[in-house]
Amino acid sequence: MTDLKETAVVTGAARGIGRGIVERLAQDGYRVVALDQLESVHEVAATLRSSGADVTSEVVDIRDRDAIAAIMDRFAPLDVIVNNAAITSTHRFEDLTEDHFRSNFEINTVGTFVVSQEGARRMKNGGRIVNIASRSFAGAPHMAHYIASKTAVVGLTRAMAIDLSPRDIRVNAVAPGVVDTDMLHYMTPEQQNLMLGLQLLGRIGQPEDIARAVAFLASRDNRYITGQVLIVDGGRSLGQGQLPPEDSPYA
Ligand SMILES: NC(=O)c1ccc[n+]([C@@H]2O[C@H](COP(=O)([O-])OP(=O)(O)OC[C@H]3O[C@@H](n4cnc5c(N)ncnc54)[C@H](O)[C@@H]3O)[C@@H](O)[C@H]2O)c1
Repeated sequence: MTDLKETAVVTGAARGIGRGIVERLAQDGYRVVALDQLESVHEVAATLRSSGADVTSEVVDIRDRDAIAAIMDRFAPLDVIVNNAAITSTHRFEDLTEDHFRSNFEINTVGTFVVSQEGARRMKNGGRIVNIASRSFAGAPHMAHYIASKTAVVGLTRAMAIDLSPRDIRVNAVAPGVVDTDMLHYMTPEQQNLMLGLQLLGRIGQPEDIARAVAFLASRDNRYITGQVLIVDGGRSLGQGQLPPEDSPYA
């Protein structure tokens, strides 16, 4: 960071990856506006402020355009938007309801659109938007509603990168693999173990792993990357890339 403090808005900031992103951006010297529908976002901000960080918190639902716009008006001009808030669940395809499908689109996709649009209107030329997608767009079971909504976020990222390029606003996405947050708690311990076995680097991701990638794409130094999706999954997307056992003919 240079001397001039930049302002970053982060959604879904009360816990998990969003909280990790707020911590990282605050550490990097941004003034951070932390948004969540949960009251506990205030505790996150208060804890960081007590160690000298410049973090403000607001309770808001990202589907509420007027409330989002009113908050942003108070902090504009903006430099960085991180669209992290999202929901998920797992359902066999045959049992998936239209409600599941619509609510995932309403929050994960339309919410990202609303926050990005209101943010871009209040952004200086040269701003950056980072959308949190999901590595699941490469394939994951029982999540058709979530995967469809996150794949749409990838499309939105690419479209915004084009449309906002005249203002030099760079728009990218980070697609996390499995990360240790409350969002994983829908998995049984057996499913979590199975997941662990698929990670090339031998561990589940931590929120700070994702926050590092977000910080890179959000930084003023990211001058020439736009419309890209950075997969941060500990190598899982290399599929069969795991090394064979020592006694295997392929070793
Ligand atoms: N954890 C993972 O394994 C994983 C993997 C891939 C992608 N992701 C993505 O990373 C992001 C963060 O995930 P997480 O694991 O930290 O999830 P999480 O459930 O722990 O946190 C999500 C936060 O978003 C907030 N939120 C949800 N709907 C909201 C709304 N309408 N308005 C305002 N806030 C709202 C929640 O209150 C919560 O604090 C999400 O976009 C998720 O899809 C997570």
